[in-house]
Amino acid sequence: MKHNKNIFILGIESSCDDTSAAITFNNKVISNIVSSQKIHQKFGGVVPELASRSHQNNIIPVVSHALKIANIHQNQLNAIAFTRGPGLLGSLLVGTSFAKSLSLSLDIPLIDVNHMKAHVIANLINNTDISFPLLCLTVSGGHTQIVLVKSVYEMSIIGETIDDSAGEAFDKSAKMLGLCYPGGPIIEKMASMSNKEDKYTFPEPKIDRLNFSFSGLKTHISRFIKKEKEKDPLFITKNLNELCFSIQKRIVSILINKLILAIKETNIKNIAIAGGVASNKYFREELKKLESKLNIKSFSPEIQYSTDNAAMIALCGYYKYLKKDFAKLDIEAKARYII
Ligand code: KG4
Ligand code: ZN
Repeated sequence: MKHNKNIFILGIESSCDDTSAAITFNNKVISNIVSSQKIHQKFGGVVPELASRSHQNNIIPVVSHALKIANIHQNQLNAIAFTRGPGLLGSLLVGTSFAKSLSLSLDIPLIDVNHMKAHVIANLINNTDISFPLLCLTVSGGHTQIVLVKSVYEMSIIGETIDDSAGEAFDKSAKMLGLCYPGGPIIEKMASMSNKEDKYTFPEPKIDRLNFSFSGLKTHISRFIKKEKEKDPLFITKNLNELCFSIQKRIVSILINKLILAIKETNIKNIAIAGGVASNKYFREELKKLESKLNIKSFSPEIQYSTDNAAMIALCGYYKYLKKDFAKLDIEAKARYII
């Protein structure tokens, strides 16, 4: 193994519908290539078989592109970090197998990374202000969790969803409104064109302590739309922007209210958000408002590092590299993989 202080890590992410490769030089990201699969848009959600097939087609060009942008040769890499899980098994297998074979052929260490931990770590990219302990509300397509982060190596979940994630609430609501996948960005866009009045005030679920629930909201929205369409078949078309505004407002208020509870319970002053939903500008603004209200410091990753990306995988890999925490070649991908 090469020993030096200048560490190049290749990160590989293939847990869902984005094939991504990134290079870090020590704790700096020097390239991050993401190839998002458009094929799922018309199906209203990710089709697992199509996702793994696309990863197979994309992975070599995406890795080559990341090396090219970083302006390094693969022989300069010190280790390869890959997403072990959680995610779609067929998709994870593509990244895992590729990482294993490249680590074997280059004779460099292999590092397994937990995708949800990596979302938290994305907050450290280009940010030297952040300090620990930190509370991170990670909100992705499959997960909604409040993570107590003692250091980059010590994380534990103190609250999570008991059913759907907030990302799913965006995606399923979009589908009900006839909008395409992924739902979050399109709902945000439509909401920004509304008159910003909460015309439909959807209910907030009463869930114990720091846990979340979004399936009741989904059912409520579905019944409401059905009822209104019976009265007026053009109800959605006529009120699309206002519907999107009220849906976004309620999903975000559920997230923010639980975060406030977690801040009060833990008395932690460094607060972050992460995951695809953290790229939502309204959510970021509502978080920012808590700074003066609760005397906290708030952080959110740059948009490109909120949604799925390999930069966060490579950076996690870098921290594991420093501890020589390497994986064996027989390591297996894990569809369910708790932090
Ligand atoms: O973290 P992510 O990119 O992938 C997973 O690990 O799941 O999160 C994807 C989720 C999707 O549910 C998508 O609709 C949501 O993030 N999302 C958004 C926005 N951009 C992506 N939700 C709300 N507003 C956005 N701008
Ligand atoms: Zn993710």
